[in-house]
Amino acid sequence: MVRLGLAGLGCRGQGILKQVLLAMDDVEISAVCDIYEDRVQAGIQIVTDAGRPAPLGFTDYRVMIDTAKPDAVLIFTGWEFHTEIAIYAMEHGAAVGSEVGSVNSMEELHRLVETKERTGMQYMFMENCCYGKEELLATSMARAGLFGTIVHMQGSYAHDLREEILYGIENRHYRFKNYQNRCLENYPTHELGPISRLLGINRGNRIVSVVSVASRAEGLKAYAEKQDKAGKLPESARNVHFKQGDIVTTILTCAGGETITLRLDTTLPRFYARDFTVRGTKGLYEQNTNTVFLEDVHPESFWETAKSYEAFLNNAKDYEDQYLPEIWKQVTPEVLAAGHGGMDYFCYRAFIDAVRDGTDVPIDVYDGATWMAVSVLSEISIAQGGAPQAMPDFTGGRWFLRPLEDVVPC
Ligand SMILES: NC(=O)c1ccc[n+]([C@@H]2O[C@H](COP(=O)([O-])OP(=O)(O)OC[C@H]3O[C@@H](n4cnc5c(N)ncnc54)[C@H](O)[C@@H]3O)[C@@H](O)[C@H]2O)c1
Repeated sequence: MVRLGLAGLGCRGQGILKQVLLAMDDVEISAVCDIYEDRVQAGIQIVTDAGRPAPLGFTDYRVMIDTAKPDAVLIFTGWEFHTEIAIYAMEHGAAVGSEVGSVNSMEELHRLVETKERTGMQYMFMENCCYGKEELLATSMARAGLFGTIVHMQGSYAHDLREEILYGIENRHYRFKNYQNRCLENYPTHELGPISRLLGINRGNRIVSVVSVASRAEGLKAYAEKQDKAGKLPESARNVHFKQGDIVTTILTCAGGETITLRLDTTLPRFYARDFTVRGTKGLYEQNTNTVFLEDVHPESFWETAKSYEAFLNNAKDYEDQYLPEIWKQVTPEVLAAGHGGMDYFCYRAFIDAVRDGTDVPIDVYDGATWMAVSVLSEISIAQGGAPQAMPDFTGGRWFLRPLEDVVPC
């Protein structure tokens, strides 16, 4: 049985507790913590409603860790607190599973890595998109050589979050202050995680530089005006200037010569997309259209976009029999229903297995630190008009010695 302490019981903490953790028989929710007492009580209620023993409740994560002494702490707070909680937990004998997001400073990331190395505690960066079906299919095909030599990849976090941000003070949600005060690639890891795994980042390859530019910030302003006209503008958002640019474009270069483009796109009207794209010397994969184009298989090509989509749209399905990893071939309705179409379950299952068995976590502190560092470096690059920033090597020079891992992180 793995005894867990949960820090942060907002949308994500409560959702993962209800849909993922309580579906696991080998997990005990020993303690829950939030700075708001009502959310502590909500967490306890979710656990008892599932017929499990009531966990201890806390409003200070330090007291939770010192008192409940969980085997592992799962961190679901806003980005600002991830690292300090992770460091405290590892210093006090708990493994850490940390939700994704931005980070405050580079110094914090170095301390995170140093603490993990010194304490020897497990630290997993819970990037659920590393378990995405399309990402894993494309990675498996790339490893089999179907796309040839990979030269470029791209991805986006394209998700209209205007309501979540604008009503953030009312709803006690962390994004409001981040968007008000910072301008950066604040959420790179949903796309950069799976891209890094495909390119072997920190495993034979590494990111060497980061360049970012941000567009003007108009989306939240226009949305606030619209809400005001409809009589729905919260007072807390009146006359607020949001610093975060609507579209942030980031270019990464890798030691292997590959380039990666990332797009943060969260404050303009649009549909959700991650835009995972692989470009190689023999073909491409595009997630938004679920398209494979291989020159050996598809000699015909059209200059009209509509004709191409008609011919190739969703043809990646044809490759699933041969290349889709087993976890997705055997996915159950319960896993699919557990959040984000199954990715959440796979990710949290991998963490619990590693803690229970005392094995290496599949997405480690070097991955997390490198991916989060893109946030900090993008903020500096944007402020300097797109000046390139050097990516530190968190592995301490071991990046080219670390072996490439399996397609599925487990
Ligand atoms: N992987 C995914 O698909 C995914 C999806 C949604 C959110 N997230 C991540 O989950 C995290 C939380 O997101 P959310 O939408 O639930 O945010 P939220 O603001 O709704 O919840 C965060 C909670 O943490 C609490 N908190 C803040 N500081 C704390 C502290 N020091 N100790 C204990 N509790 C504290 C807040 O009171 C709040 O209840 C973020 O890092 C976000 O990036 C990931």
